[in-house]
Amino acid sequence: MAKISRRSLLGMVSTGFVAFLFAPTSVDALREPVVRVGGSCRKVGRRKTSGGKTFECVKTPNGNKWRRAKTTPPPQPTTSDVKVFASSELAAGASKIAVVTSGGRNYAVVVTRTSNGVVGFSRSCTHAGALVSPGPSGRLTCLAHGSVFNAATGAVIEGPAEIALTSYKVSERDGAIYLKI
Ligand code: FES
Repeated sequence: MAKISRRSLLGMVSTGFVAFLFAPTSVDALREPVVRVGGSCRKVGRRKTSGGKTFECVKTPNGNKWRRAKTTPPPQPTTSDVKVFASSELAAGASKIAVVTSGGRNYAVVVTRTSNGVVGFSRSCTHAGALVSPGPSGRLTCLAHGSVFNAATGAVIEGPAEIALTSYKVSERDGAIYLKI
């Protein structure tokens, strides 16, 4: 039998060890769990992307199931100033909702009078597009899946939404509040 030197034996062992470390994992381990419409899911409101499509976990009479997520295109801003309320209609710290029409489209908005002036946001929840409404303590809430936003900044306070509400430029002049939409 051919003799193997200690050096070549060490070389073979270390090469094998390195090959083991960098060997690709099995295909099954790399594969993402498949999400399909009607498949079971755990947490209502959870969104997942699979095969380039976005799915959302919803409650159904047969348990929580995946369905294709609705995507709501964000309102397209134009450059018109649209009157929303008379200044006297919005008390300090209050939030009010309105539907304004601009460029032939209707926009659901919410306007808040803060200590720094009036701010305005789209009511379209950034999670899945349901409408947010003024809630207690300077918050805007979405009842669809429980997201909560700051009424003065539009920032997310509680998910599942992760993105702040779309804000509009607001101006107040001659006793009226205008949004740039
Ligand atoms: S649409 Fe899901 S939390 Fe608003």
